[in-house]
Amino acid sequence: MIDQYREEEKSKSGGLTYAKGKSLDDPTLDDVSRKLLEQSGGTSIFDPVLCEIAYRWFSPPGGLILDPFAGGSVRGIVASKLGRQYIGHELRQEQVDANRAQGSELCGDDEHPPAWICGDSRNIDTTCADVEADMVFSCPPYADLEVYSDDPKDLSTMKYSDFRAVYFEIIKKACDRLKPDSFACFVVGEVRDKKGNYIDFVGDTVQAFRDAGLHYYNEAILITCVGSLPIRAGKQFSSGRKLGKTHQNILVFVKGSGKKAADRCGAVDVDESMFDGIEAVGGDEG
Ligand SMILES: C[S@@+](CC[C@H](N)C(=O)[O-])C[C@H]1O[C@@H](n2cnc3c(N)ncnc32)[C@H](O)[C@@H]1O
Repeated sequence: MIDQYREEEKSKSGGLTYAKGKSLDDPTLDDVSRKLLEQSGGTSIFDPVLCEIAYRWFSPPGGLILDPFAGGSVRGIVASKLGRQYIGHELRQEQVDANRAQGSELCGDDEHPPAWICGDSRNIDTTCADVEADMVFSCPPYADLEVYSDDPKDLSTMKYSDFRAVYFEIIKKACDRLKPDSFACFVVGEVRDKKGNYIDFVGDTVQAFRDAGLHYYNEAILITCVGSLPIRAGKQFSSGRKLGKTHQNILVFVKGSGKKAADRCGAVDVDESMFDGIEAVGGDEG
């Protein structure tokens, strides 16, 4: 579904704002997408198109987004451009400083410029005690796949049993700040342990939200760039029968009722012309 929207976006008929897939020399590139591309230097940043879709589908206009693992500035800037208030919680001061500089440059005149709080999200219950969020949205550390710092409070430095306990605690505390009948969305990917077995990070994320009292509501698959995978995949397949992975999991949860949460988000504009020539087949999940 996400891919369909990417194609839709490329053809500029879907009303999306961000420009995934365009290059810096494209004269039609909008200013914000240009800045994001320049800042990333061509390396991966959080996908602004995915971000826009998630906000449009799962948060109400003018709503407040709480992000317990902020990382870079994309989720804050896109929220601001879509009229949502974003609060990102991030451990590393240098990342927060860079985000704030970019936030003031790109969103200084917006109605709801993004805000970043620097600190350990284990304390989000006190730092955000007065926050009532309309959506929880994040892309957490994928265990120790990427290590962000040498701070022992950084989840990516922890052994998985410790990581899991703190991860569950932070998800619970973030979800406690979520209003009833609201959605949460985490973008995650599976991770292998040192023996090459999957740790079930995706399953643990689902469990963490269930323990926090939310229902598991949607899963979408984000097809990611193949990059150098074809070069690596052959060897890892022949030696260990490990399949190459080119996707991430977009997990959506709901606190309370999905129907009421959808009502709170309001109508989603769907360009019906994209279904032209497609005949309905099969059943409906309802
Ligand atoms: C997956 S990264 C985000 C990178 C991602 N591609 C992005 O920008 O969206 C997760 C972030 O969590 C932060 N983090 C790790 N432990 C944390 C903690 N205890 N409290 C708050 N943030 C933490 C890391 O510093 C890192 O920036």
